[in-house]
This record gives sequence, C-alpha cells and structure tokens, in this order.
Amino acid sequence: MATENCRCAANFSSLWWSRHIRNIVITGASSGLGAALAREYAAPGVSLALIGRDLARLDRVAADSRQKGAKVWTAAIDVRDRAALGAFLLECDASAPLDGLILCAGVTSVTPSPGEVEDLDGAAELFDVNLGGAINAMAPIAPLMRRRRAGRIALFGSIAAFAPPPDCPSYAASKAALVAFGLATRTLYQADNVSVSVVCPGFVDTPMTSSYVSWKPFLVSSEKAARLIRRGLDRRKAIIAFPWPLYFAARLQQFLPQGVGARVLLRHRAFAAGGTGLKADPRTIDS
Ligand SMILES: NC(=O)c1ccc[n+]([C@@H]2O[C@H](COP(=O)([O-])OP(=O)(O)OC[C@H]3O[C@@H](n4cnc5c(N)ncnc54)[C@H](OP(=O)(O)O)[C@@H]3O)[C@@H](O)[C@H]2O)c1
Repeated sequence: MATENCRCAANFSSLWWSRHIRNIVITGASSGLGAALAREYAAPGVSLALIGRDLARLDRVAADSRQKGAKVWTAAIDVRDRAALGAFLLECDASAPLDGLILCAGVTSVTPSPGEVEDLDGAAELFDVNLGGAINAMAPIAPLMRRRRAGRIALFGSIAAFAPPPDCPSYAASKAALVAFGLATRTLYQADNVSVSVVCPGFVDTPMTSSYVSWKPFLVSSEKAARLIRRGLDRRKAIIAFPWPLYFAARLQQFLPQGVGARVLLRHRAFAAGGTGLKADPRTIDS
C-alpha cells in the first residue's frame, strides 16, 4: 500500500513538474508567431498539428518542422468553424493525447484614419476569430486534459489589453476579453493540473505588425518571441508578457488618472497600411 501511494505521488509530481509538451496543436500556424512556435517546438518525439486557412503557407511551416524531426499534421480550418475544428482536434487527441494547445490564430484592425471609427461588421468578425476561435478550440480539448490531469493551454492576448490604443478599440477589447477568459479558466482548471497562460506580447515582427504603420517600440523578432513564450509555458506562468519595459509602462498607466493615460496613448497612432487589416473574405474551408 505504501509503495502504491509512493508510486501515485511520483506519477502526480512527474505530471505536475513535467516541463515539456509533446503533442501540440497550434492555431494560426501558417504565419508569424504560430509559425515561429511550430519551428521552436519541432523536434524528434514531438507531434504538431498545425492549423490555419492558407494550406500552402502551412505546408512550408510543416516541411521545416518535419526537417527538425517532428511528426506533423496540417489542416486548413477557419477557427470560427466550430464543428470542423472540434472534429479535427478530437481526431488529433485520439491518435496522441494532446498536452499543448497554443491558440495563436488572430486578426487585427486599426481605424482607417485618425478620428474614424472601426467598421462594425469587421469588429464583430474580429471578435468571432480572436475570442470565439480560441473558445472553439478549448471547448472540446480542455475537458479531456482535465480528465487526464495534464495539459497546457496558451491564449493570445496582447499588451494592448492593458493599455488600449485608441486606433484599434475592437482589437484591444478582444484581447482584454482573452486575458479575462484565460485568467478565469486558469483558476478553474488548476485543481486538475491544467495550466492556462495568457501570452501578452508588445510588438513582434510578423506580417500582422507590418500591416500597419506606427511607432513600434522594443520590436521583438518572432523567433525570440517564440523562445520567450516557450519558456513562460514551461514555467506555467499566468501571464507571459514581453518586452518587460512596455508591459511595465502599460500596467503603470492603469494606475494614472484616466486623462493622463489617454494623453500618452493618443501619442500612439497606428494607421492601416492597406485597409483595416481584417481579412474580409473567409477562405474556403478545406479540412
Ligand atoms: N505581432 C504582434 O506584435 C502581436 C502582438 C500582440 C498579440 N499578438 C497576437 O498574436 C497572435 C499571432 O499574431 P501574428 O503577429 O503572428 O499574426 P499573423 O502573422 O497575421 O498570423 C495570424 C495567424 O492567424 C491565422 N488566422 C487568422 N484568422 C484565422 C481564422 N479565421 N481561422 C484560422 N486561422 C486564422 C492566420 O492564418 P491564415 O492566414 O492561414 O488564415 C495566421 O496564421 C494573434 O492572436 C495576435 O493578435 C501579436
């Protein structure tokens, strides 16, 4: 009996302290941070399921990941398509129980010009992708992770959640919602040894960031961002925010009188380089 208890305790602690995830789903893997994270995690013994809508770009990321020794599956799925996404995730989980869910898929928007308001249809679509897409992916897999008492989930917020720039109210609001959703589920799941982290980057050099023109202080490469995110997930951090000076400034301005914070934020104006940055025409779903 004592030996049995010891074995249980050892199993529990190895599950809790196991730093590395091996069977990983990444949404938004065809570009930017998702692609960089796929390349960061790719290694022998690792299975990656890569999701995006652009199969040609996904295939390029998959080829790089296979070259590094990972087993890779790709699926062109719109994260708003709850049924297709759920079916694919459950299929992945059946072939290798998932222990990592990295939910990068996201779109941004900025106001067309200073003083103008974002297009409301575009704003609704943005919420569907950024918040709805993450929930669509978590819903079928989180209960399985909780039952197995193992798993790590990364949601993608932004430093904009703490210091919302006036140029992209819907984007900042969707990211604030993801921070709240992530922290709430983190508390809910922690008794089951499932760790939820919210990644809050500043400016990372990706196609999303280059789609608008603005001052981009402390711009970080996508490779460096992927390393920081992996380290944060290994440590089961609640919020993985970087670069720290920008995060510190964003949190600090929350304690300033609103007028002062607003004057600082109004100095940051982002202008769309080519439209709103939203992808208006969802591509054909081919799962
Ligand atoms: N870059 C930054 O500075 C920064 C800062 C803070 C937070 N973030 C967040 O980090 C995440 C990744 O951003 P990124 O900079 O890597 O952007 P990105 O280069 O534009 O990549 C976005 C990814 O999301 C996918 N995606 C978009 N809509 C989708 C949909 N409806 N269904 C499935 N996939 C969809 C895209 O795939 P397809 O094109 O193939 O559909 C692409 O792979 C986003 O959530 C973003 O908000 C980025």
